[in-house]
Amino acid sequence: MLHSHHFFLPLFSGLATAANLYASHYSGTINYLTLTKSSDTAYSLTQTSSTRSGNQLPSWLTYDGEGKALYVSDEVFVGSGTLTSFSIGANGALTQSGKVTTPAGGVANCLYAGANGKGFIANAHYQTSALSTFKLPLNGGQPIQNIKYTMAGRGANPSRQDAPHPHHAFVDPTGGYLLVPDLGADIIRIYSIDKTSGQLTECPNAKLPPGTGPRHGAFWAPPSAAKSSRVRRGNAAAAEGTILFIANELSNTVSGWSVAYPSGGCITLALKQTLTPYSGNSSAPMGTKVGEIKVKDNFLYSSNRNDKKFDPNDSITQYSISSTGSISWVDLTSSYGTYPRTFDINKAGDLVAIGDQTTANVAIVRRVPATGKLTGQVANLRIGAAGTPENEDGVSAVVWAE
Ligand SMILES: *[C@@H]1O[C@H](CO)[C@@H](O)[C@H](O)[C@H]1NC(C)=O
Ligand SMILES: *[C@@H]1O[C@H](CO)[C@@H](O)[C@H](O)[C@H]1NC(C)=O
Repeated sequence: MLHSHHFFLPLFSGLATAANLYASHYSGTINYLTLTKSSDTAYSLTQTSSTRSGNQLPSWLTYDGEGKALYVSDEVFVGSGTLTSFSIGANGALTQSGKVTTPAGGVANCLYAGANGKGFIANAHYQTSALSTFKLPLNGGQPIQNIKYTMAGRGANPSRQDAPHPHHAFVDPTGGYLLVPDLGADIIRIYSIDKTSGQLTECPNAKLPPGTGPRHGAFWAPPSAAKSSRVRRGNAAAAEGTILFIANELSNTVSGWSVAYPSGGCITLALKQTLTPYSGNSSAPMGTKVGEIKVKDNFLYSSNRNDKKFDPNDSITQYSISSTGSISWVDLTSSYGTYPRTFDINKAGDLVAIGDQTTANVAIVRRVPATGKLTGQVANLRIGAAGTPENEDGVSAVVWAE
C-alpha cells in the first residue's frame, strides 16, 4: 500500500523550501520565524511561535545549531541580569534549560573553550564595565570569572566614554583567544584561553585612537589559511594572514587589524586600515552609529544605524576584502527599516536577515554569493511593538537557525 505522505511530501518540498530564524525583541520575547520560498521571486516570512526570554531585556542571541541550543543575554540596566539558555526541539520549540545571575548590562555572549569550543560562555556587560564567564550547561552557579574594568577619567567622547563599556566578546579562528572591544576605553581587550578550565588570562591590549569607540568585531582568514585551520584547528601557524575587522561606533568607521601569532602565548594586533562606510571615504552623517559587522567569504559588511541614507531607512555597506586583507568600499544598500542593530548572513550566502531595532522588523535581503552584492528585499516582517529612536526597545537580535 502506498502511504500518501511518502508520496506527496517530496513533491511538495520540490516546490517550496523553508528556512528559519530566531529574532529577539527587547519586550522579552524570542520569536521563531519561517521564511518560505515558493519560487525565485516569491518568499513569505511568518512568525511561527514566540517564547518568553526568561530575562528582562533580551539583547543578544548565540545560536548553536549542532548543540540545538540558544543563549540569551540580558541588558537590564540596574541590579543584576539573567543569562538564559534554551534547548531547541521540533519546529524550533524552545525549552528553557538553564539560567544564571550575571552583572547587569549584558549586550553580547559567545561560546568558547572545552573540547568543542562550546564548554563555556563569556558575556560582555556594557553598563557595568565587566566581562563574566560561566561553565556550560548553566546551572544557576557563580561565574568562573567576573572581570571588572576601570578608567582613570572620561575618554575623548565624554558622554559615551564615561566608563569602560565592553560591547562584544568573540573568539579568534584558532579558538585560543577571546577578544572584547571596549567602546568606553578605546581598547580591544585580548585574553588567552585555557581550553580545559575556561580561565581567561589577560594579554597586552590593543589601544585605539581616542574617541574611536570599538563596538563589534569579526575575523577573516585568507582562503588557504581558512581551509587548513579547519583541519588543524588550534594551530597558530594556520592563522597567519588573519585580519580582525572592528566596527567603531563613535568614529563611524571600520578598521582592519593584522593579527600576529608570536610564540609566548598572546596574539598581537597592528592597525592596518580604517575606512568610513561611505563611497570615497566620506564622513557619516551626524547621528550615525555604526553597529554590526560581519564577514562572509571575501566580503565585509557593516550596518550603519541612523544614517538615513535611504530615508527614513538606514543602510548596510558592502566592502570587498583583497587577498592580503585590505578592504575597499563596494556598495551601500538599504536596511529596509531604521536602526539596523543586527544582521546575519545565511550559510549558503544567498540571503541576509537584517534586524531593524526601532522599526522592529526583520528584512530578508537577497545576496549574490559570487559578488557579495545585496540586491533587494524579498520579505519583511514586523515583530512585536515598534520602538523609539535611541531606546532599548524593538528588535535586538536576529540569527538564522541552520
Ligand atoms: C577614512 O576616514 C577615516 C575617518 O576620517 C580616517 O580615519 C581614515 O584614515 C580614512 N582612510 C583613508 C584611506 O583615507
Ligand atoms: C524602507 O523600508 C520599508 C520596509 O521594507 C519599505 O517598505 C520602504 O519602501 C523603504 N523606504 C525607502 C525609502 O527605501
